Amino acid sequence: MNNPVPVLTLDGPSGSGKGAVGQLCAQKLGWHYLDSGAIYRALAYVVRQAGLDAGDVEAVVQRAEDLKMECLPNPPESAVIMVNGENVDDRVRNEEMGRLASRLASIPAVRAALLRVQRRARQAPGLVADGRDMGTVVFPDAHRKFFLTAGAGVRAERRYKQLKVKGFDGSLAALFEAIQERDTRDAQRAVSPLKPAEDATMLDTSDMSIDEVVSRVLDRVIH
Ligand code: C5P
Repeated sequence: MNNPVPVLTLDGPSGSGKGAVGQLCAQKLGWHYLDSGAIYRALAYVVRQAGLDAGDVEAVVQRAEDLKMECLPNPPESAVIMVNGENVDDRVRNEEMGRLASRLASIPAVRAALLRVQRRARQAPGLVADGRDMGTVVFPDAHRKFFLTAGAGVRAERRYKQLKVKGFDGSLAALFEAIQERDTRDAQRAVSPLKPAEDATMLDTSDMSIDEVVSRVLDRVIH
């Protein structure tokens, strides 16, 4: 049966602006917001805390099934990640945890275990969901789909600015490489790779402000 609750999906690589745009769109529409990347980061945190090996699929999947996390919107900054009621945002919003999240996200059984949690976020009056496979796999029947892109240099600079605020002291060049590596893994994995849905609207945000992207997206949702 068709699900009548509308969904707006925003997919794209890291630094394409989907987190800020997604939260602001959700705020303006009065809809719920799902940061699916935060779920993979929360899982990475739990796996790291437990000292598990990322290759121990059975144990990792068990953690995915038991995951207790939530995300508190915080636009235009990224949403705050809570695990077991504790704010772990500073510990998971870094490239090291991004890399572990990306490794875990390439395991098919992990993705399957997290599918239900993500679909449960589809609640009236609507949902804005951002990630890598929102329009292709998690909500293929979404009402509006966008795929945000931006030049690799622009994306690295955006991430650099975000991470600097959180005390990151690495170089822009190292960050650029880490992001490239993560995006390549995300785009090449066998299950739910990062790619635009066939019916997604492509939006290059390289030269656009967050507000411009938000109004372009909302324009398509409302009309
Ligand atoms: O969006 P964010 O950078 O927080 O996502 C962290 C990682 O989680 C991504 O690099 C990707 O590997 C994974 N992810 C995913 N599918 C999603 C969202 C995130 O595989 N829908």
